Amino acid sequence: MENKEVLILKEMLSAGDTFVSGNRLAEIMGVSRVSVWAQMEKLRSQGFEFEAIRSKGYRLSQKPSSLNQTMIESLLTRSSENLTVHAIETVDSTNSEAERLLANATSTPFAVFSRQQTSGRGRLGREWHSPDNGNLYSSFAFRPKILPSRLSTFTLWMGLNICECINTFCRIQSKIKWPNDIHIEGKKVAGILTEARMDSDETRELVLGLGLNVNSEANEWPAELRQIATSLSEASQKTIDINRLTAALVGRIMGAYEQFIKDEHKDLLKEKWPVYDTLKNKAVSLHHGNTQITGIANGIDASGALIIEREDGSRFLARAGEVTIDK
Ligand code: BTN
Repeated sequence: MENKEVLILKEMLSAGDTFVSGNRLAEIMGVSRVSVWAQMEKLRSQGFEFEAIRSKGYRLSQKPSSLNQTMIESLLTRSSENLTVHAIETVDSTNSEAERLLANATSTPFAVFSRQQTSGRGRLGREWHSPDNGNLYSSFAFRPKILPSRLSTFTLWMGLNICECINTFCRIQSKIKWPNDIHIEGKKVAGILTEARMDSDETRELVLGLGLNVNSEANEWPAELRQIATSLSEASQKTIDINRLTAALVGRIMGAYEQFIKDEHKDLLKEKWPVYDTLKNKAVSLHHGNTQITGIANGIDASGALIIEREDGSRFLARAGEVTIDK
């Protein structure tokens, strides 16, 4: 059973500019008119505003501009209905919070969203700068029960779907930099951090962490990020409705996860990867530990490894490490 604030909001959102009567709201919630008023007060305290006319009822006149759990839940579609949402103001890391919830036997799938992280983590032990500035810090948790070897294409497949989702939503052209970055015109807009707990024959827990620069502005960022990072609002030149975008991402991620689990993603990944691959035919260097491999990037193989064609004609399959584009 959905919570009552979500029921009210769903009704108001589908009514658009039309007023919804207090009786109608009482009816869908199965409560009295007095109780409707109390629920509306709860929504007001979260930043929603309603126009009320005695003979007509209520109409939504303002929505919160920052991340809001009720708003996200009201916008979720059927494909996401078995997912639980945990939206919090501040957390050390949404991936760490997801791992704690998993350890406490919270049922999956669930998503953790936060407005700010105090210890956001990136790949290779890096920090993920995570102030409360209109960006999205999120983690999606699953118990997939699949062979660990099948995970090798997971981040690539999810990255591709996230790319397509933000491109459609914001009318931009983001691409993927193998293995886990999303770029717009050479600047990073998002990073993915996948973490798993597994036995030799089964993936017990899987967390997909996504840090997405949504409405932040370059002049708010540390100097070292200004040249290499961007946000969706900067790239599209408009303010992004973060709750609608988050709901769209949830739908897309849940659909992509289903395809992945059923092993139905391989042909699509092969077909679409070249469209979103920022490294294709570029001279690159792969840095992994103390080794450096240089050559021309030539897509991915079936296991998700980056193919690097070296000058001596040999092929190197990169499964880990950091790639830079050589000038
Ligand atoms: C990277 O590019 O190195 C990956 C960055 C991933 C950052 C996200 S923000 C939400 C989730 N929680 C974390 O601590 N990290 C991921």
